[in-house]
Amino acid sequence: MRYSDEIIEEVRDRTDIVDLISGYVKLQRKGSSFFGLCPFHNEKTGSFSVSPNKQMYYCFGCGAGGNAYTFLMQYENYSFQEAIQFLADRAGIRLPEEDHSKEAKERADRRAVLLQIQKETAEYYVHKLLSPAGTAALQYLHSRDLTDLTIRRFGLGYSDKYSNDLYRYLKEKQYADEILRDSGLFHYDEKHGFSDKFWNRVMFPIMDANSRVIGFGGRVMGDAKPKYLNSPETVIFDKSRNLYGLHVARRTKERQMIICEGYMDVIAMHQAGFTNAVASLGTALTEQQCSLLARFTKEVLVIYDMDDAGIRAARRGIPLLKNAGISARVVDLRPHKDPDEFIRAEGKEAFQERLDKAENGFLFLVRLDERDYDLEDPGGKTAFLHHLAGMLLEIPDEIERSTYLDTCARLYRTDPEMIRKEVGRRSLQGTGRRIPDTPRSLRLRRDPADRRQTDKGQKLMLTWLVNYPELIHTLSDVLRPEDFTNPLCREVAEKLWKQAGNGGINPAAILDMFPDEEDQAEVASMFHTELKFEKSGDKKIAFFDVLCRMKREGLELRSAALDPADLNGFTALAEERRKLEAMQRSGPPADWFPEGAEEKM
Ligand code: UTP
Ligand code: MN
Repeated sequence: MRYSDEIIEEVRDRTDIVDLISGYVKLQRKGSSFFGLCPFHNEKTGSFSVSPNKQMYYCFGCGAGGNAYTFLMQYENYSFQEAIQFLADRAGIRLPEEDHSKEAKERADRRAVLLQIQKETAEYYVHKLLSPAGTAALQYLHSRDLTDLTIRRFGLGYSDKYSNDLYRYLKEKQYADEILRDSGLFHYDEKHGFSDKFWNRVMFPIMDANSRVIGFGGRVMGDAKPKYLNSPETVIFDKSRNLYGLHVARRTKERQMIICEGYMDVIAMHQAGFTNAVASLGTALTEQQCSLLARFTKEVLVIYDMDDAGIRAARRGIPLLKNAGISARVVDLRPHKDPDEFIRAEGKEAFQERLDKAENGFLFLVRLDERDYDLEDPGGKTAFLHHLAGMLLEIPDEIERSTYLDTCARLYRTDPEMIRKEVGRRSLQGTGRRIPDTPRSLRLRRDPADRRQTDKGQKLMLTWLVNYPELIHTLSDVLRPEDFTNPLCREVAEKLWKQAGNGGINPAAILDMFPDEEDQAEVASMFHTELKFEKSGDKKIAFFDVLCRMKREGLELRSAALDPADLNGFTALAEERRKLEAMQRSGPPADWFPEGAEEKM
């Protein structure tokens, strides 16, 4: 649900960011800010700063930055919804209820009871594992090299040999049959009543991303079939929307996530230090799982068994990941079957090496398809190259397509230009995906280095304005939001101007106006850019340079866009150009910077 700006602001105002972050990072005061080791990248010296005045954090090492909401979204990987809920609870603020209807409330209550049942069941299974009845189960887990710490961390348990002891346990806790029936933990029929679904198995609780138990997998301790029994889908357990192990893996500092097939694989990897591993829940990877993953990472290492089923799963999974904006690489563990077996046989260093060697997902798919053709035969090779052209056509990004095209040409010893022609021909025919046009506004041809310089200048300007909001008034004749040509800078500028007009700027609130996490970090970086100058006079000159440059570029752009028949436009531009030249000649006016500002800068 969408919260009002007032409530978003109230929750943020009642949160002290230093206090919040201190719960995660050891912070030390240095001047007006606090510093510590950045939780978002590995470092030995503290470049992570938290500013109580701006109520923001920023890392000079990795560029992570934002406000209290962003912090929770980055660190805990909370959605905005979860972050505001968390901070509201913490501050003792009641968020407005989503929906007051009676049915909605009943639904919510029912979900809460179902979650409670799963939780109590998980505790019951743990208790059983550690009781005398669980001796064999515990031995089994030990025989699979799991330590007690790992067993505890993943909440592993044991379902007893009795056919209804869980049922009796939950009945004692006063749960009604009517809701137990929907818990997925029991078989029920009219004649025999309730019996436990899981029976003499080691139990793996399945948690959602927020560490709430939503279902179970149970493994036999020998070779009986089925090897694993899983909770059916229920109101709270949607297999296509969850990933096993995500509640731990979401906190990883690794850039990528590892996705594999099995419960045991996730656990074995975590125990070996690969705490970024998750598993799809015994089914093929779904679109929803991919977008869930996309909240946490841009790159996934896929580890499926290299048997037919696993290869099929990888073939289907890679494009799904790609559609969610995640690039996939495929890990080959042969001759071992899965991560658990690999790590037991060869150890974690060897495992890491295999991760490092993971093959690019696209090339993996190409190599798979290659097997269907006889490349020794000219006809076979031609057919394969046609197929390859079709695959390349599916890559929407032009640069990426070109890079893969060259790699494949090298791989299959063929002329890249020939393939390029074929891809071009097909794209004109309209086979394959249409390649989106670049919007006109982005097509201004400029040297990238030049553009970077521009962007840097505009960001610097914003930093100044945030630190010296008075400048917005002082410069009102000279500088306006329209002078910012970088779209993100322009947006920030518009918001700053608006706040300044309404009685005062509030950088942390500006961040909330950017829903995209990357934009947020970038805006936060603008507000934290460090300004270091030897002499105070240098600052004024640097500021003036940036300002003149911005004005100059703005004028260039506007003159390029001007309709040649627009005489008034020409006159206006000429007038502005004249003003700019005069300003450049006279230098920065003495009263631009408020008293004492230079020391603060
Ligand atoms: P595997 O058969 O590869 O088992 O199934 P595994 O993970 O290596 O298990 P161990 O090492 O023998 O204990 C992979 C995953 O497929 C699902 C489970 O989620 C399992 O982790 N599966 C497998 C089932 O749901 N039911 C089954 O009978 C078998
Ligand atoms: Mn296994």
